[in-house]
Amino acid sequence: MHLQDILYTQGFGTRRVCAGLVQQGHVSIGGEVVDDPFADLEPEGLHYIVQGTPWEYHEKAYLMLHKPAGTECSQKPSTYPSIYTLLPSPLRLRPNKGAVQGVQAIGRLDQDTTGLLLLTDDGQFIHKMGSPKHHVPKVYEVTAKHPVDEAQIAKLLAGVVLDDDPKPVRAAACESDGPLHLRLTLTEGKYHQVKRMLAAVGNRVEGLHRSRIGELALPAELAPGQWRWLTAERGGGPACAGQTRQGVEIEGKNARKTLRNGGKGHGPGQPVLRAGR
Ligand code: URA
Repeated sequence: MHLQDILYTQGFGTRRVCAGLVQQGHVSIGGEVVDDPFADLEPEGLHYIVQGTPWEYHEKAYLMLHKPAGTECSQKPSTYPSIYTLLPSPLRLRPNKGAVQGVQAIGRLDQDTTGLLLLTDDGQFIHKMGSPKHHVPKVYEVTAKHPVDEAQIAKLLAGVVLDDDPKPVRAAACESDGPLHLRLTLTEGKYHQVKRMLAAVGNRVEGLHRSRIGELALPAELAPGQWRWLTAERGGGPACAGQTRQGVEIEGKNARKTLRNGGKGHGPGQPVLRAGR
């Protein structure tokens, strides 16, 4: 693929802008400046530097972000800065079918919730993760206002009725880890679900942190506001069924996809929180 086209797919701007970046000597590969926009390169596994920032080619982008408190998961936030301001612009400008789309969060966390958020520009993946058929367990660390007792835990496990649906929602797992701390596993993602479930048992959430999605845990070294690439692997369907995999698994019609913690370093530069729009 031509270098200008590679940069275009990775969100560095229009093909013309990408050609300009290359011609002006802003792109290097393997320690050498490459100034020919039509240099023909194998994109898979390509490591390159644009204006001093190292990048690796990803056909589709899958990321994890440690969402800090006081950020909104919306592209057009109302009160707090958007989580998207934490990402470098190429991730927000990656094209899809000719239009700028960028990565999108898979589900949302409240502005005051911290922790693991997945983002991608793979529309099918977002759709599958959001489908009610995919009960990917999500683990929340809850700081409660009042001491949590056995009766509250029993109710959360048995199921509580929330105000928008007569069908009870229940925690797949719930354990107390100190009088004011609960570890709650949910397999659905209703609006304010943890806060409403705690309220339904007569308690209140004072602090909320998502530590895990499926088998994918937020790494301790990923500071609030930092992001990291995930690697996507396509499994062979039935052949790998039953295997334990450290990641988030989504099964499609013919294949199974696993997202793993790539662990290949953090996002370029220090995260910057800009003022809300
Ligand atoms: N449940 C909530 O109440 N808030 C979140 O941000 C996530 C789950």
